[in-house]
Amino acid sequence: MLSTEEIIAEVAHQMKQKFSGEETGHDWYHIERVWKNAKLISANEECDPFIVELGALLHDVADHKFVEDFEKETNERVNQILSALNVSSDAIEQVLHIVHNCSFKGGIGENKMKSIEGLIVQDADRLDAIGAIGIARTFAFGGKFGNMIYDPEVLPVDFQSEDQYRKTRTHTINHFYEKLLKLKQLMNTTTGKSLAEKRHQYMEEFLKQFYGEWEGKF
Ligand code: ADP
Ligand code: NI
Repeated sequence: MLSTEEIIAEVAHQMKQKFSGEETGHDWYHIERVWKNAKLISANEECDPFIVELGALLHDVADHKFVEDFEKETNERVNQILSALNVSSDAIEQVLHIVHNCSFKGGIGENKMKSIEGLIVQDADRLDAIGAIGIARTFAFGGKFGNMIYDPEVLPVDFQSEDQYRKTRTHTINHFYEKLLKLKQLMNTTTGKSLAEKRHQYMEEFLKQFYGEWEGKF
């Protein structure tokens, strides 16, 4: 029987193998940063750290933007990894709740994440989408999919559905208004909120500088 530490180490090892070099923003180092953020936040919350860590490590095991059937892929991959390590079915259910509901998906409607462990992982993931790292990831994603960095004639979209969010890709500056700048308001935990504050300000500064340079003002 493996200890909880051994299970976490093994899941981390498998995720590192599988996601090293991934180029759409969900590479191993993103997963590792989310894992670190989640541990930091959970130190201030009443929660089960085993579920938080497994949720953080597995939260991007399938990407709703790139798989045909997200629910099915997620269930299969999470079950396969965790049942091989003899994780209880109750713990697997809790991890699945996190993995199913972590993603932003346009931020439309109420947050379906209900457990404190899930709210922590969601904050940890969102922190990695903002600030300096968030800026870098966003432009990396835009480049990978051939999007322009900016086009002042194409305005951000106010998405009405998850599907519309998933399918619409314009220029990368729009993504700040469509997602990144909204995340601060959506943080769940006190620690998450306070970490998001600084990262949010950094993005506001970046955009100010960007538009100034765009206009040749400074
Ligand atoms: P989530 O998993 O919360 O739904 P996404 O998978 O949409 O988040 O995004 C993961 C990262 O990929 C984002 O933080 C962002 O950096 C980048 N990204 C996603 N969609 C876009 C886009 N349309 N333009 C630029 N970057 C994007
Ligand atoms: Ni993520």
